[in-house]
Amino acid sequence: MTVARRTVQDEVLRFDPAIPIERAWTPPSSWYVSPELFALERERVFRREWTPVARVADLATPGAYASGVVAGEPWVVVRGMDGELRGFANTCRHKGREVVQGCGRAEKLVCGYHAWSYGLDGTLKSAPRMAGIQDFDRAAMSLPPIQVEVWGPWVFVNFDLAATALLERVPELDGKLQASGWDRLTYLSSTTWDIGCNWKVYVDNYLDGGYHIPHMHPTLDAQIDMTTYRTETFARSSLQSTGTSAVDDPRIDFEARQRMGDGALYAWLFPNFMLNRYGSCLDSNLVIPVGPDRCQVVYDFFFEEPAGSEDFIAESVAQSAVTQQEDIAICESVQLGLGAASYERGRYAPQVEVGEHHFHRLLFEALKD
Ligand code: FES
Ligand SMILES: [Fe+2]
Repeated sequence: MTVARRTVQDEVLRFDPAIPIERAWTPPSSWYVSPELFALERERVFRREWTPVARVADLATPGAYASGVVAGEPWVVVRGMDGELRGFANTCRHKGREVVQGCGRAEKLVCGYHAWSYGLDGTLKSAPRMAGIQDFDRAAMSLPPIQVEVWGPWVFVNFDLAATALLERVPELDGKLQASGWDRLTYLSSTTWDIGCNWKVYVDNYLDGGYHIPHMHPTLDAQIDMTTYRTETFARSSLQSTGTSAVDDPRIDFEARQRMGDGALYAWLFPNFMLNRYGSCLDSNLVIPVGPDRCQVVYDFFFEEPAGSEDFIAESVAQSAVTQQEDIAICESVQLGLGAASYERGRYAPQVEVGEHHFHRLLFEALKD
């Protein structure tokens, strides 16, 4: 064990998940600034958890593929000619280049570097100009498989072949979202936000039980009834929910019920995926760690068909951007505080910040030796 690793484990153990929320302290600020902890999360969390990487609709036809990188691991997901979705490590067995880049449709996966080619089942099909090579076991040169699963409109991957099935991790959220009719949703657009904070700052802010809403989000506060706001925690997820405000609020110039319907569901899946379901809309937020003090948040917007007027959709997306900009300002200021010598760790509001405490306990379990 390296000294660096011993040190990072010492930092992990400074959070005690056994202490009840009423007496608990939050994780130390080192969790939010340390490059060693960031590396440990990559290895122990993001390479072992399920990550949404593509929309099912984009991989509908045989031969359709998509590729990208999660936690430093290139992946490719492809729809086989037999209709099965399969996922592989997208690292060519020759020199390690990404076999394919971007997305498209193909009958085989051909590496652009020296044209080694792989079948849609990952097996090596051809390796040109290799005459004379010895001890070359072609069968051992397949692309390593990764796990692939579909939930809702997304395709998820997991690099850990031993990880439990995604659908076993989300039964509670799945039930709520099925009941909300999320199969009626159609994808509209995506937005990516670059944020100067650790990914956990964004997640903490999301999971604070609505604590900050009256103070930081006046137009969102005008749309919801905070007296009905509640948080439920499950094994690997949590759900915040709230009813819609029944009063006309001068802070907004549209009817709260028109955008929010009967209320909102804010579903979170450990570690970094959120689903916001309200009215005829769903937006998903994937929080991608970029560095100890940087993350990206990808929003996917979906609307029910028929989705109402284009004005309504544009207004709804614009409202979401207002809330997001308010959250970014909070998160970047919190990151500043976490890096300051004057702040070490804080406390939880026991009746409110339940989801945040639950998140920290799950993260501790994943990070500890
Ligand atoms: S790295 Fe792929 S063919 Fe050489
Ligand atoms: Fe917020």
